[in-house]
Parts: sequence; C-alpha cells; structure tokens
Amino acid sequence: MNKDPRNIVFDWFSPTRILFGPGSIEALHDIGRAIGKLPLLVTGKNMVKQTGLLARIQKLWDGPMETFHSIEPDPCDEQVMAGVRTFEAGNCDWLLAVGGGSVIDAAKAMALVLAHGERPLEYTGQEISLQPLPVVAVPTTAGTGSEVTRYAVISDSKQSRKVTIKNRLGCPAAALVDPALTLDLPPYVTWCTGVDAFIHCFEALVSRESAPLVDSLALRAIGQVIHNLPLVDAEPKNLQARVELHEAALVGGLVINTVRTGIIHTMANHLGARYHLAHGHSLGVLASVCTRFNAPTCGEALRKVLQAAGVESADPSEGMDSVWSSLLSGHQLDRFTVSAPPAEETLRDLTELVSRDRRLFEVNPRCLELSDITQLYREVFRANSVGQAVR
Ligand SMILES: [Fe+2]
Repeated sequence: MNKDPRNIVFDWFSPTRILFGPGSIEALHDIGRAIGKLPLLVTGKNMVKQTGLLARIQKLWDGPMETFHSIEPDPCDEQVMAGVRTFEAGNCDWLLAVGGGSVIDAAKAMALVLAHGERPLEYTGQEISLQPLPVVAVPTTAGTGSEVTRYAVISDSKQSRKVTIKNRLGCPAAALVDPALTLDLPPYVTWCTGVDAFIHCFEALVSRESAPLVDSLALRAIGQVIHNLPLVDAEPKNLQARVELHEAALVGGLVINTVRTGIIHTMANHLGARYHLAHGHSLGVLASVCTRFNAPTCGEALRKVLQAAGVESADPSEGMDSVWSSLLSGHQLDRFTVSAPPAEETLRDLTELVSRDRRLFEVNPRCLELSDITQLYREVFRANSVGQAVR
C-alpha cells in the first residue's frame, strides 16, 4: 500500500466472511448453499482421509460434490491445473478447500484460473484485481492465515522457486475457522505453523508500512503465540490453547493482507523451495539473522514485540535472539542441515530471485542492497553446513 497524497494511513480490505470457533465447520451446509450447488472439495493427499474429516464434511454438506485429494506441500502449477481439469469435468461451481495453507493457496489459484483462463504462473509479478470463482476455506492448521488473504504461493514445476499470486480480489468468500480441527496436529506441524503466524505479525510490525490498527492486532497475536505454543506442546488436546493459536493465525492473515510480509518471508520462500524445507522451518532458519540486520533501524518496534512476548532486555536485538530461541530451538526450526556451503553461484541465484520482489526493498525497515541479501544467505549457510562447497 502506498502512503499516497490522500493521506491514507492504511488500506484494510477483508471481504472474507469469517466464522470462528470450535464447531464452526457445522455451518458448512448453510454457507455453501448460499454460494453454489456443486463444490469441488480440494484437500491434501492423506490428511482428510486419515482424520475421518472427509466423511464428516460429506455428511455436513449433504449433497453432491466432486473431490480432488492431490495437493502436496508447496503445490505447483501442474497440481493447480489438474484441479482445474477435475473441476471442469465435474461441472462444479465453487471450491471448498479443506487443509493447510498449501491446499487453500492451490484452491485460490484454481479459482482464478477457472474464472480467467491463464495458467497460474502467468498471474505472478504485479498485483492483479481479478474476480475468481468462490472459495470457502476450512483451515486445518493454525498458521498461514491463507483463509483470509489475497495471496496464493505456488511452486514452479520447472524451476526451484516459489511465486506469489497477489490478487486484490482473491480472498476466499468465507472461512470456517474451527480450532478443534487442529487438536491432532503433530508437534512439528503445530510449531512450524505457529512460527509462521508469529512471523506474519512480526514482519507487519517492523515494516515501514506498519500502521496503528495493524500494530495492536499483531501485538496481541504475538503474545498469544508465545504463550500458547508451549501449552499445546505439553498438552496437545488443550482446546483453549488451540483456539488462541488459531485466532493469532487468523489475525496474522488479516494483517499481512494490509501490511505485506518482509525480508524473512521473501528469503525463506526461495531457500525453502531450493532445499525443500517446510515454510515455518525456512522462516525459522532466517529469523534471527534477518532481525539482527534490521535491528539498528527498528528498535522501537522490537521493544513492542519484546513487551508482548514478556521478555525484558535492554538491547532489543539480544532480546529478540532470546525470543527466537524460545520459539525455534525446541523443534530445531532455527537450523537445517546442508552437506556443505553452497557455491557463490547458488548464492547469486537466490539473491536474484529475491531481487525480483521490488516492494521488499521499499518496505524493509533498513535500507537493503542486493549484497546484503547475499551476505545474509551466506551467514545462514555458514551456520548450517559442513564439508566442501556444493552447488
Ligand atoms: Fe507465511
């Protein structure tokens, strides 16, 4: 969002109808009937079948539906097109996405392709404003906030890169956010997604685009993640803690719809695509090094984060190291293993991918050069690799 001559401080656009709370999935029939007659149910490969959720959804919908259970983590353009073909073959008229961020992002990309005909990767780059077919999102993880955002992250099936479709009109029509659906998540997934939610709020707070309404929501969500992730680790079935985490994730989605994500996300998307790391894990690997880089120019924002997180420190940068450690070290989300530091050519490739995101260089709190990106990647690899240089 440009802070333009009309003195617009922020541009809050959240058209998604949100039904939040344990049991909100029970509203599926009424919400769906208001949208269309024949949904394509989009899910991940195994999750819906394993948890018995598929049968529950079919019972709740109580009508005909086509199914597409082929979405994998970091969905690629080919998977999106396969879903489009299934939708068209079944004469469906809306999409029901049940799963994590990958599933919801893939469904949003399908909805766009179905309405406008191009292939998914042709919509990347500039922000667009194209009305897609309706999507109802039922998130089964508490992290991405994709159920309320205009973004869809899609992997390129021909290159190791992720691209983001930014469609101003791309938010789901409705989101049924039912924290009870997260009670059986494994700890690693819970923490990866919780870290994602935290970093959405963190990056909104330190961004040059940040605004008071965003700050107050994001700070509350940061406190909820810090407090409740350890609780669900000790007690996975703690529904109240799951509720708080899911509320934080939802808020994270709402704030990044207004103040976009920053350097941690952009660098992590390309690192994760190349080394096949879960989204939250790749964020964790970069969080500390990027925070230390930006700390000289966003001390006030970091102090607010520390206060929300309940950490006392005279030095905001050191304080944030403590926050990252408590969030990331338990499940080793602050490290990954590569057999050796990459060649300079690989660092240049990663830097070039980041350089395509011109908005990042406008909103990052500290003036950012391409050489800084390369250096930050180099630091991450230095801390995570052993052996000889590889490509
Ligand atoms: Fe994210």
